[in-house]
Amino acid sequence: MSPAGETGCFDAWPFELKEVLESEADGFFTVLPMRSVDSTNEELKRRIRALKDSEELPEGLTAAAAEQTAGKGRLGRTWESPMGESAYFSFLLRPSVPVENISMLTLLMGLSVAEAVNGLYHAGASIKWPNDVVIGSKKICGILTEAFFRKGTDIPYVIVGTGINVNNPSFDGELKDKALSLRMFLNEEVSPARITASVLRRFAFNYQHFLEKRDLHTVKERYNAILVNKERDVRVEDPAGPYTGIARGIDDFGRLAVDRAGEDGRSERVYISSGEVSVRGLYGYV
Ligand code: BTN
Repeated sequence: MSPAGETGCFDAWPFELKEVLESEADGFFTVLPMRSVDSTNEELKRRIRALKDSEELPEGLTAAAAEQTAGKGRLGRTWESPMGESAYFSFLLRPSVPVENISMLTLLMGLSVAEAVNGLYHAGASIKWPNDVVIGSKKICGILTEAFFRKGTDIPYVIVGTGINVNNPSFDGELKDKALSLRMFLNEEVSPARITASVLRRFAFNYQHFLEKRDLHTVKERYNAILVNKERDVRVEDPAGPYTGIARGIDDFGRLAVDRAGEDGRSERVYISSGEVSVRGLYGYV
């Protein structure tokens, strides 16, 4: 099979994804395949905005595109999304959870990407807290989660958008030392439909676990097993002042437990939330 699927066209994989996933009996995802779109997150947002009062969109609705013309990254950055290089997709969830638990879904997606990549390619992918999926010290995907409340309901619409570096031949500039594609790692081209289908199946499985307790309790062992920061020295970029410590793993809420080094040589256990601070390895990005 060609990397983009049986047709051999780089713009065909979202259509192939739809066929594969919708032929599965217990499928959670309904795919909206697109050759090109501004942003798969924006596409879902437009569909939410277009809803009339009593209308709903189903969980698992997935916008997948071969190209994005205005891909969005975190913190207002752009996400370069050329045709034929990466997989770009976003899906919708309607979890009945408190608003503070929504960010856990980003960690759940990071776990799902790492597990799918390892399941298919034995790539040794791991997670840099909270949700960077890395091979070695280089990032292979980005995740942008956005949540909205519509009038009259306290169940949010959550959009989880993911870009996986699939067939990028190389990265230049500031990404050169930070990013990696599956093709660069494996030295061969990869089917975007195959890896995306596998990630989505993995997410559906992990999401069922998440919904049991509406937190990360049932997946945290698997997450911590591939957490690159675990038992490592880290530097926490706290706005109140940076400090160092040893990362111990996440708790049920996705917070990173860090044994913070004190001046007297003793350490104090602190729990840090994603979004509040960033964590770096003492000797580099991880
Ligand atoms: C990051 O900055 O690391 C997050 C990048 C998220 C990119 C994906 S690609 C699919 C979806 N659509 C977007 O516009 N962004 C996300």
